[in-house]
Amino acid sequence: MRRTVIAGNWKMNMTPSEAKKFITELAPMVKGLDKCDIVLCVPYVDIAVACEAAKGTNIHIGAENVHFAESGAYTGEVSAKMLTEIGTEYVIVGHSERRQYFGETDTTVNQRTKAALAAGLKVILCLGEVKDERLAGITDEVVAMQTKLDLAGITAEQLKNVIIAYEPVWAIGTGLTATPEQADETCGVIRSVVRDLYGAEAAEEITIQYGGSMNDANARELLSKPNVDGGLIGGASLKTDKFTSIVLAANA
Ligand code: PGA
Repeated sequence: MRRTVIAGNWKMNMTPSEAKKFITELAPMVKGLDKCDIVLCVPYVDIAVACEAAKGTNIHIGAENVHFAESGAYTGEVSAKMLTEIGTEYVIVGHSERRQYFGETDTTVNQRTKAALAAGLKVILCLGEVKDERLAGITDEVVAMQTKLDLAGITAEQLKNVIIAYEPVWAIGTGLTATPEQADETCGVIRSVVRDLYGAEAAEEITIQYGGSMNDANARELLSKPNVDGGLIGGASLKTDKFTSIVLAANA
């Protein structure tokens, strides 16, 4: 049976000392809540401190991006091996902010995903339509295409370490949330593409999160939907009480 995964995406927030304080405060609040996996994806410079603070707890630490090369002349980039060596377990790939502001394409998303999986990281692969695509009625086509391109060349065995985060771009950081029905429907479309690519068992096993203004008020309803297996949470992951409420909703 697939796991529910509640993951925070801190984006460009929290210094190392703030990260340490946050995790120290969060750990007792989420202790024993084992019906979901709990992940915090944090800025590169916070990872070492976060891993140390999370030791012995049920909180797992992830990065927010990774480069696709093993090493080399890529000023400012970070490799998968650098991440795993300091204890990173997860990595977000293909977040819409990377696609929008930093030239990320499905080709580079695919390359990063492959490099991360090869290094033993679990990948939270983000995809989703922009507002114009939803209004034009082509959401299903867009997410199907992204799913196929982003997973190209990834084996069924590797897929076991992939979580897909369906994040409608119009809902990210906007306070607009997809309705539970919209989230369920589009996560279902992604699951059916995975079924076509990898078969029924893989489709049943894969965790598909919803992301986009998920918060303590709407999490329970979104998470109650059969195709929504967790959340990728930005703003509401920056407050221990709000994030804990979402973890509680996943454990209800
Ligand atoms: P948000 O961000 O919860 O602040 O909308 C979600 C995300 O970007 O992953």
